[in-house]
Amino acid sequence: MVGIFSRRQFASATGLSALGIAATAAGAKEREMKSAPDPHTAGGFPYGFVWGTATSSYQIEGAVDEDGRGRSIWDVFSHTPGKILDGTTGDRANDHYHRYKEDVRLIKELGAKAYRFSVSWPRLFPQGDGAPNPKGLDFYNRLIDELLASGIEPWLTLYHWDLPQSLQERFGGWRSTETCKAFADYAAFVAERLTDRVKHIFTLNESGRFVYFGYGSGIDAPGLTLSKAEVNQVRHNSALAHGLAVQAIRARGRAGTKIGPAENIAACLPAFDAPEHVRAAEIALREMNASFLNVVLEGKYTDAFLKWAGADAPKFSAEELRIISSPVDFVGLNIYAPEQYIVAADHAPGFSVLPMPASFPHMSSDWLRIGPETIYWVPRLAAKIWNLDAIYISENGTSSVDEPAPDGRIYDTDRIMYLRNYLAQLQRATAEGVPVRGYFLWSLMDNFEWVFGLNKRFGLYHVDFETLRRTPKLSVSFYRNVIARNAVGV
Ligand code: BG6
Repeated sequence: MVGIFSRRQFASATGLSALGIAATAAGAKEREMKSAPDPHTAGGFPYGFVWGTATSSYQIEGAVDEDGRGRSIWDVFSHTPGKILDGTTGDRANDHYHRYKEDVRLIKELGAKAYRFSVSWPRLFPQGDGAPNPKGLDFYNRLIDELLASGIEPWLTLYHWDLPQSLQERFGGWRSTETCKAFADYAAFVAERLTDRVKHIFTLNESGRFVYFGYGSGIDAPGLTLSKAEVNQVRHNSALAHGLAVQAIRARGRAGTKIGPAENIAACLPAFDAPEHVRAAEIALREMNASFLNVVLEGKYTDAFLKWAGADAPKFSAEELRIISSPVDFVGLNIYAPEQYIVAADHAPGFSVLPMPASFPHMSSDWLRIGPETIYWVPRLAAKIWNLDAIYISENGTSSVDEPAPDGRIYDTDRIMYLRNYLAQLQRATAEGVPVRGYFLWSLMDNFEWVFGLNKRFGLYHVDFETLRRTPKLSVSFYRNVIARNAVGV
């Protein structure tokens, strides 16, 4: 599985990867309240901390041929022999399209107050642009209403990789700015129809993955292996699409709608806690994220990135940089594994990346190294570099083998080990005033895990993919306890 392991090494793919995010309207008092830990509980999180869980459309919905939904690149890719390790597809997945009420009940039983889901673009626009499909919109209206009636806040992701196939065929997908324009129109439509009830929107989920794996290594849909220059251009187009969507939502959504990206930030952290390595990790984090987060938040590509890319640098205009850096309200960070351990160096650019030992421990997914301090250091450094006021951990969680015990229950103590260690480090961050405002556990339930098919289980709820029965794992009790007490530890 070495291939799979290395496919998650985003920073190396991004190459050498910053104006701060606009401060929100929150006054000083509110800010103080938000970052004050709950004084009544050991290991407490700030008042009002958002506890949530997350899924994505293609991974759970199924019903790929129903109610006028168009094809996505993942429909085509998963049906291409040899692409999915266990030969499965998302055709049925969790059948969430029909069972969404049951799934909302699961979230309620968990005690989570927020749910991050994604809209399937081809369900709303079967061709990606042109006429919308009213039945597709009806589904998300029903889902959102059900969530709100259950006291759960809907957090909507516009793009979690299921690009309409038609845009791939007509424009080459994200290779063309035509797709960016279609994305902005789709974002405007969603904003117009849903922001009466949806107050938070993530634009793109993990540009860093769908660009490099979809267009570089070809592991993910659409399965292309383009040149470095073309991949850099696709990455640039993804940033442009993000910026255009921010503008479209501001123009067409309700005032006060909060918007931000959800990025798999290339996770650089100091090899150990010494001031010189911390400073070096700060430089590294900015450079390793130069091609998306930094240009989104700073409005420019760093000199080191442009030098690294050389003749393969993306082509862009000043106007595009202005659009890309449209102010956002928060930054979503998907944090799973440490990616680069950094030490100080006395040569430019001031840091060295240490080799990763072969013996580094990992979870059931080979790529998922166990480094709880990642969720402390990365938000802390990101907040400092980009002067952030609101960070959400838009994903964190782990796969586990999850075999039922003789009594039929699933005692996923390995997942609980992972979560309690990561959450303890997250609490350390919030207690020190790092502006992390919420956390979305990936995932609510086992689902279609992209190239792994149904073979990797990330859920709090176990799903039997024959019967589609959902069963709580022990980690449901763990997370419910954390949420109820707003704390890790006792
Ligand atoms: C994140 C994605 O990268 O990681 C999720 O946003 C995905 O959609 C999760 O399910 C696990 O990734 P993988 O590659 O193990 O399926």
